[in-house]
Amino acid sequence: MSRGLLAWVDGRLVPVEQASVSVYDRGFRSGEGVFETLRAYGEHVFRLGAHLDRARAGATELGFEAGQADQLATAVQATASANLAALGGADSALRLTVSAGTIDPHSPFPGTPGGPPTVVVTSHALRPTPPSATAVTVPLARELPHVKAVSYLVAVTARRRAREQGADEALLTGADGRILEGASSNVFLVRDGSLITPPLTGVLAGVTRSVVVTVAGRLGIPLAQRDVAAAELLGADEALLTATTREIVPLVAVDGRPIGAGVPGAVTRRLQAGYRDEVARELMGRSR
Ligand SMILES: Cc1ncc(COP(=O)(O)O)c(C=O)c1O
Repeated sequence: MSRGLLAWVDGRLVPVEQASVSVYDRGFRSGEGVFETLRAYGEHVFRLGAHLDRARAGATELGFEAGQADQLATAVQATASANLAALGGADSALRLTVSAGTIDPHSPFPGTPGGPPTVVVTSHALRPTPPSATAVTVPLARELPHVKAVSYLVAVTARRRAREQGADEALLTGADGRILEGASSNVFLVRDGSLITPPLTGVLAGVTRSVVVTVAGRLGIPLAQRDVAAAELLGADEALLTATTREIVPLVAVDGRPIGAGVPGAVTRRLQAGYRDEVARELMGRSR
């Protein structure tokens, strides 16, 4: 599966089978790291700047510097370009991981900061996006929700629970029953022709979410960012999930109950078309 693929590790591209990081790496030892999943359309990495801004801000919140944006951009772009032929020229998913570097194992907990961050980029073929998705609500919330941290246990646990119940995605809910976000996606609902999505307090500021906000504006679809109770989602006309690799996925059932007619709705389809236009715009170099 990874035959012929290269990984970027601390400044150079190496065959993935030979790629390694230190046993003293703080990302491995204590989850002190951030990651980004990016999508390359052919060789072009979509919204690279926005992903790097989020990664760098997340690292700062975790107490380390991720490095210069241009250096991280070089790492991501070099990996996308180097693996393009091995992936048959198709769109790909990239993962940038930046950890807090190695720790002096003799230093007292939580360890002495120091040393450069560890920067790793890998890429792989995109899995086909399903035409629609189902979800279950899971009463868990991520720690430090604004940070896409390597420590991803809540998301992994929630997604596993969803899969055990035959659903595609887990919708994380707060203690008060508010819908927050998917395990690896943001969520929107449609009511009376308007879009509603939970506010950025308590959720990851999804890059795709922000593109959808732009697209809704272009299409003249009203949008509110406010709290959403699970009951309101269940009573919505349509719902949709957003994530970098999957773009916009119609969410057709939650907790075993259909949303609206239980099929992808008209507003969702308009947004999907608008999203594709937005990608095309960037590919043509008109906006970044
Ligand atoms: C918890 C969480 N929320 C939302 C998203 C969607 O973010 P983006 O659109 O930047 O991929 C992700 C992406 O993996 C995520 O992990």
